[in-house]
Amino acid sequence: MEYPGKFERVCSLDEIYDGEAKVFEINRYEVLILNKNGELKAYYARCAHALGLLDETSFDGENRIVCPVHLWEYDAFTGESINPMGSTLFPLDLKVEGNDIFVKIPSVPVSEFKVKWFSMYKRGGVIGEFGFNS
Ligand code: FES
Repeated sequence: MEYPGKFERVCSLDEIYDGEAKVFEINRYEVLILNKNGELKAYYARCAHALGLLDETSFDGENRIVCPVHLWEYDAFTGESINPMGSTLFPLDLKVEGNDIFVKIPSVPVSEFKVKWFSMYKRGGVIGEFGFNS
């Protein structure tokens, strides 16, 4: 998924153990990073349903993320919703350099990001339709 942004250092590799997730705030964006067997994923830490915060307990350590607000479930490694189906978390690009984890933080203000992303889902859109300039 292409989006405008800039990589920012979030944490070191040894801050997120295997089977664990953590939430960080970078430039006012909440970022959920999870680790399973050394595989790392990053998402904007807000649920596609009603922007509930996906906290550190939302990752089951295996394959699922469950939103603590109304219990929507997502595949932890694709971000696609399982129950109900048809939605997705917003994946953020992640890279590792040395012992540090970097995540590409969108370059638009988070208030604008939230409104556009949330309204897209209310229209039944898909993630490829996400546009910062529309
Ligand atoms: S806000 Fe996440 S399930 Fe409703």
